[in-house]
Amino acid sequence: MKMADFTPKNQSQVDLENLPKHVAIIMDGNGRWAAQRHLPRIAGHREGIKSVQEIVTFARKIGIKTLTLYAFSNENWHRPAKEITQLMVLLERYLNKELKTMMENGIRLRAIGQIDRLQKSVAKLVHKVEEETKNNHEMDLVLALSYGGRAEIVDAIKKVYQDLRDETLSIKDLDEKHFSNYLYTEDISDPDLMIRTSGEVRVSNFLLWQVAYTELYFTKTLWPDFREADFLKALHEYQGRERRFGLVSGGQNH
Ligand code: FPP
Repeated sequence: MKMADFTPKNQSQVDLENLPKHVAIIMDGNGRWAAQRHLPRIAGHREGIKSVQEIVTFARKIGIKTLTLYAFSNENWHRPAKEITQLMVLLERYLNKELKTMMENGIRLRAIGQIDRLQKSVAKLVHKVEEETKNNHEMDLVLALSYGGRAEIVDAIKKVYQDLRDETLSIKDLDEKHFSNYLYTEDISDPDLMIRTSGEVRVSNFLLWQVAYTELYFTKTLWPDFREADFLKALHEYQGRERRFGLVSGGQNH
């Protein structure tokens, strides 16, 4: 990427050669953003889509290989029907509009979650975009839809049980690495950095298995206000952390 795309301040702060491979984001605070402006919640979600567009484009431009966005949780099914419908309409519009951008920029869409719980037309569109973008290799955009981390683990256990029963899996071959192939994320690497916006300091059932060694970053910024500069700030903080994966510091483990 051309350095001219950055302001001098940001250039010196973030090392583009040392980016997290996989960034996951809990996009929180759309409702509060709208309430602060005396607007309906949908206005916050609409503005949130602009942040999605900006962060996806920017992540692709600087060379993030996987970006996972928590777009709709299993708990979100308990929201008023009207808001669910509005979110689904926004999702459909987003996918229809962004397919072209994904193709032009080598972005592959992958969906994780209980996709079949979505309205038929939405599930169909999600699968269509996944299919059309499957040969794109610059960046994986992973959308968590109708997703819950505990449900993911239970679903994985059911698949493991099936394979044990069908004798396509032997219990002695089941270890952590093998088990993770049964999760929705299958071959997707674990996140290196997880960001949550809006000041909530929780993981909220997102990628529970996968975040074992992930660096967590919390910001008070509401999702509709979270743009390039905020993303760079998170990357900068990440780069200042020492990742030990349970070992001692300074590489003196032998
Ligand atoms: C949290 O805000 C956000 C969501 C429930 C979903 C995020 C969805 C979008 C940004 C739009 C759709 C996404 C895509 C990828 C097309 P909140 O409503 O929980 O905010 P609050 O906690 O302030 O009420």
